[in-house]
Amino acid sequence: MSHVTVVDHPLVQHKLTLMRRKDASTNSFRRLLNELSSLMAYEVTRDMPMQDIEVETPLETMTSKVIDGKKVVLVSILRAGNGILEGMLNVIPGARVGHIGLYRDPKTLTAVEYYFKMPSEMQDRDIIVVDPMLATGNSAAAAVERLKELNPKSIKFVCLLTCPEGVRTMQAAHPDVPIYTAAIDRQLNDHGYILPGLGDAGDRIFGTK
Ligand code: URA
Repeated sequence: MSHVTVVDHPLVQHKLTLMRRKDASTNSFRRLLNELSSLMAYEVTRDMPMQDIEVETPLETMTSKVIDGKKVVLVSILRAGNGILEGMLNVIPGARVGHIGLYRDPKTLTAVEYYFKMPSEMQDRDIIVVDPMLATGNSAAAAVERLKELNPKSIKFVCLLTCPEGVRTMQAAHPDVPIYTAAIDRQLNDHGYILPGLGDAGDRIFGTK
């Protein structure tokens, strides 16, 4: 069963609450998502492999640790995933970025792929898939399935919000993929929205609708 980490740090929870408010402006929603994503990156990279390198301080030479950020690929599920990208890139600036475009068929709520662009040598890389809302879980599960065809070293999934249905779908399809989220909300409604949620994340990030 894939592990679910609810990032309950007070800064994350505070920012999430402000984002839920229906009168939060596009500007503040986007800024909060950006800040929150940097904090999520801190948590999701906690177990990243490190290597020793030699460093010359002004006084001595020592052995010290670095992470190889170039091996990390952030994969954004378009378009709302892009709202998480910038905040993550602030703290993992060497990461490569892939995009996967999936739209939700409004009748069946299943995922249909329309775009897929990844860096080369994915078999050497650790993937962090980002999408703010893990709702039905269908898009996330389809994205991860597609990425597994490239045999990456590891895959993690980061969202802002999820619900029991989304967690169940991901755990059933990909028990090996850990999930990181700021909250698990009560339920999904008949239109695939998370309740109480924060509405349509893409519309709120980009000021559409
Ligand atoms: N996607 C969203 O943007 N919001 C939801 O509540 C569910 C899916």
